[in-house]
Amino acid sequence: MNKIFFFSNNAGKQEEIKTLFKNFRINIFFPEDFKITYEPKEVGNSFANNAKIKSLFGYEKTHIPCFADDSGISIEALGWKPNIMSKRFIDSFKNSTECFNYIIKKTKESGKIKAYFKTSICYTFEKNYHVLFEGKIEGIISEKIKGKNGFGYDPIFLPNGSLKTFGEMTEREKNFHSHRGIAINKLINFLFN
Ligand code: IMP
Repeated sequence: MNKIFFFSNNAGKQEEIKTLFKNFRINIFFPEDFKITYEPKEVGNSFANNAKIKSLFGYEKTHIPCFADDSGISIEALGWKPNIMSKRFIDSFKNSTECFNYIIKKTKESGKIKAYFKTSICYTFEKNYHVLFEGKIEGIISEKIKGKNGFGYDPIFLPNGSLKTFGEMTEREKNFHSHRGIAINKLINFLFN
């Protein structure tokens, strides 16, 4: 097996995946390699279901073994939301700074500082063959917006035991800790061991 397709148009995720697969002899393809700009609607009720919708779609389009992830943040001060609505939530603000300020305010007001990121990765290698890999990282919402690296909620998430937000980490540091790094390493073990 020397080809794999990562079905995501998110440039930040693509960079993370390239780094994580760097030491393995496998060609990774992305949607732009096949001029696929459409993404199926994420109508599942869990990260796992949404990941499967995407990996199956990618597999059916290309017949290359395909993996896709669905991930997001759950924030204690928001009743453990936005969860699977993470993208829609951040996009509902004028910009990400406004979203971060809202979350930081809610966190300070409630004293509920915990948060976690979760990823489900689905790997579809034949039409009805799917394997699921999960990763979770627990942490807290930082008191201030810190760092410009990464994407999404990275500048306000402090993993437990870290003095840096994901937004202040290099890609390598983030991959070492992150929900996606954990899940991808499980996929890598599955593929290469
Ligand atoms: P997706 O559906 O897996 O692309 O993720 C939904 C949203 O969750 C993204 O648009 C980001 O806002 C957020 N998210 C997922 N993973 C991360 C991460 O590693 N860092 C920061 N935000 C993330």
